[in-house]
Amino acid sequence: MLLLNPGPVTLSERVRRSLLQPDLCHREPEFFDLQDDARRRLLAVYDLDPAEWAAVLLTGSGTAAVESMITSLVPLDGKVLIASNGVYGERMADMAARQRLDRRVMAEPWVAGLDLARIAAILDADPTITHVATVHHETTTGRLNDLAALAEVCQTRNVHMLVDAVSSFGGEPIPFADHGLAAVAATANKCLHGVPGAAFVLVRRTALERGVSRAYYLDLVALAREQDRRGTPFTPAVHAYYALVEALAETAQEGGWPARNKRYLKHGQRVADALRQLGVEPLLPDEECSAVLRAFRLPATGGYPELHDKLKAAGFVIYAGQGPLAQDMFRISVMGDVRDADVDRLTTVLRKVLADAGRDIT
Ligand SMILES: Cc1ncc(COP(=O)(O)O)c(C=O)c1O
Repeated sequence: MLLLNPGPVTLSERVRRSLLQPDLCHREPEFFDLQDDARRRLLAVYDLDPAEWAAVLLTGSGTAAVESMITSLVPLDGKVLIASNGVYGERMADMAARQRLDRRVMAEPWVAGLDLARIAAILDADPTITHVATVHHETTTGRLNDLAALAEVCQTRNVHMLVDAVSSFGGEPIPFADHGLAAVAATANKCLHGVPGAAFVLVRRTALERGVSRAYYLDLVALAREQDRRGTPFTPAVHAYYALVEALAETAQEGGWPARNKRYLKHGQRVADALRQLGVEPLLPDEECSAVLRAFRLPATGGYPELHDKLKAAGFVIYAGQGPLAQDMFRISVMGDVRDADVDRLTTVLRKVLADAGRDIT
């Protein structure tokens, strides 16, 4: 079965086999070597200087990393603007609300881009805002928000950016050089092609110095401190860390994030072109989409369950739309160990399935 949902992804054999390494006690040096290796390789994905940045590992899903970032990096006297245009932006707003952070939420419609002029106006009108939190790739619609442009808006106003890059880290460009960017949260089981259970935050050390301990398990400052001392406060998902290290080695050997981005773009475009020929339109213009995932309008004939089930019977798992978009769209991600031959087979199957559903496939 090939997973075309946006994580967890289809693993390469190499990453799958890495799960079979020896059992480790997390209080022994062998585990700390593994943890150090994962942290070092995470920084290397975007060539980050360890004196300036820390990679902090967490055992949990991507949401744990995002929640750790949001709850730990907005100081007690800080205020966060959450710029949202999808499920995951709204989730960050919910996290900030539950922690009663001083906050303002700018919620755009899910299909819309972020209005940078409005963000700039909000920041100019409220100088107490210290942070902007947003999602890089809004997996809800496949939109890649323009982080570089947002970082520019933030940097010129001395505002720090906290980014959910759960479905873009390792597969899209991220403007780490921009001083406005304070932290990025992500997970092993999306563009890095690892297994679920390992997540991480890449954070500027200066941002950690201003961090606060609002949470216990998700206290990013304490996690960073312990990991810097070759320690760990809790029981980590050791085998997920093995797989993360192997996935990071594989990513590097395949040419790093740029090569992955190129491959995703090629595969995503082939799927979009094939569907367009079949009369299935994309939700967003190509140039607004991530390389990782595209959303498509559901064909008039047959609903999502029928399309899903027929593709699954042919060996492909696709993904439904969320919330109010569930009736209108479906999504196809090309993350994971997806090869040219898989995309060939997928386009053939799509032609057949949509023809069966009564579509014109000339
Ligand atoms: C952008 C984004 N943020 C957060 C998450 C949540 O990740 P998880 O399900 O691993 O907690 C996802 C999951 O797809 C995502 O795409």
